[in-house]
Amino acid sequence: MSPAVEAGPGASPGQPAAIAAVNVTKRFPGVLATDAVDFCVWPGEVHTILGENGAGKSTLAAMLCGLYRPDEGHIERDGKQVRLRSPRDGLAYGIGMVHQHFRLVDRFTVAENVVLGDPHQARILDRRAIEERVAEIGEQFGLPIDPRAVISQLTVGQRQRVEIVKMLYRGADVLLLDEPTAVLTPPEVEALFTTVHSMTAEGKAIVFISHKLGEVMAVSDRVTVMRAGAVTGEVATADTNQRHLAELMVGHPVEIGTRRGSNIRADVALSATGVTVIDGDQTLVDNIDIEVHRGEIVGIAGVSGNGQRPLARALAGVITPTSGHVTVAGADVTGKGPKAARRAGLSFVPEDRLGTGLVPGLSLTDNMLLTRPRGFIVDRRSARAEIATAIDEYEIKTPGTEVQARNLSGGNSQKVLLARELAGLGDPGGPQAIIVSSPTRGLDIGAAEFVRGLLHDARERGAAVLIISEDLEEVRSLSDRIAVLYRGRIALEGATDELPFESIGLAMAGVAHEEAP
Ligand SMILES: Nc1ncnc2c1ncn2[C@@H]1O[C@H](COP(=O)(O)OP(=O)(O)OP(=O)(O)O)[C@@H](O)[C@H]1O
Ligand SMILES: [Mg+2]
Repeated sequence: MSPAVEAGPGASPGQPAAIAAVNVTKRFPGVLATDAVDFCVWPGEVHTILGENGAGKSTLAAMLCGLYRPDEGHIERDGKQVRLRSPRDGLAYGIGMVHQHFRLVDRFTVAENVVLGDPHQARILDRRAIEERVAEIGEQFGLPIDPRAVISQLTVGQRQRVEIVKMLYRGADVLLLDEPTAVLTPPEVEALFTTVHSMTAEGKAIVFISHKLGEVMAVSDRVTVMRAGAVTGEVATADTNQRHLAELMVGHPVEIGTRRGSNIRADVALSATGVTVIDGDQTLVDNIDIEVHRGEIVGIAGVSGNGQRPLARALAGVITPTSGHVTVAGADVTGKGPKAARRAGLSFVPEDRLGTGLVPGLSLTDNMLLTRPRGFIVDRRSARAEIATAIDEYEIKTPGTEVQARNLSGGNSQKVLLARELAGLGDPGGPQAIIVSSPTRGLDIGAAEFVRGLLHDARERGAAVLIISEDLEEVRSLSDRIAVLYRGRIALEGATDELPFESIGLAMAGVAHEEAP
């Protein structure tokens, strides 16, 4: 039995859904991740799952592709009940998932990754035939990719294409994309949507997960909204709008807006002078000057891989720049290590949240304690109170303060890290400056708005804020000033209100300002 929903635009009458979850419930210790959820996608349709962090979106997708098994309820493929014991089973039924964290082998080529672990692949690999087929699929669906390129040399956007090609190569007719646009630049998002539409034109069914309402409106035929594991609404995109979707998600009216301050002070709380980072024969950061004043938010825009990561690490003291100087609140911290930078008043939210940000195997309380100055008697009780407050304020979905960080959903682990790093920002005794990579990446609109509010408050209270992000919308909505990073240099810089969107986009692509049409 399929859920009683009208067929999508690509479906012919009487056709069963390509895939359906029927009354699926999934529990984790202390958490009801999905609660009797019905969901289905018709061939030729894009169906978005929308919901706050921890709402159960990834869990639902994981059950649809065979990664998790439902505790109750079942999955149907073309109207027939199927039992999926693994993602391999899912693929045998033509169901493929592209996870937010890619699962490619770095030192293998595109073609090698595509066939790696493919049960249908003949034992003796005909390399040329595989490469031809990969190129062919790329051409057909607008996923240009060199089958012989080695993964480690590809950008994040190109890696995502490889993941999609891999699923198509293995015959997936149902594709699940978990927050695919979180890692893409605006032109890459456009290209992905073209690909999605060429897939639905072929009758494929697409499940799309995203927090960005504009995108959801642009790409989907239908939207299912989840909240705390349950479905709160299912609507056709044609019958809804962003505000309505936001309300379904959060449960009350939401204001979607930005505010820019004019509280900039004369003194500089974070500066880089001539910072250069050379690794072997590669110049990753090339003679960069940045000044962030108290009361100011500066955004570094750019496509990933243009020096953002080494620049942030050099500023935060994680690596020593080859030349140049870094100061925090007037103190020269160059080459003195991350603890010295912290002592001088710098907070740092790195790009890789789990790993250098949070320790997955430690509890939330212990993660809060990690960056406390040593030498005190460790005060677990105050750390626990702090995380408990954060759970409240950030609406972090977790059964408790002693849960391991690895059990949190993508967005919720980010909230924990932000809570730790933003604590006291802008207060007299707190951090004076912060460097934060992609502050709202992966956050639902409520949490994103809350974090934007925190950063704006910190600015009003005189902190210097440096944001680094590939998401141009994010940079523009938060920053007073923008600098575009291209090949380790600042290609364009100016007040946000005075830089046209197109000029920023061109600078990100390496087209000089003067050459712009
Ligand atoms: N392997 C796991 N072990 C324990 N709890 C889990 C596990 N996976 C998910 N959960 C919990 O289930 C709930 C739903 O998580 P899920 O990852 O599906 O959320 P999501 O909607 O994808 O959120 P986000 O937008 O933050 O990615 C969360 O409370 C999460 O902490
Ligand atoms: Mg998720």
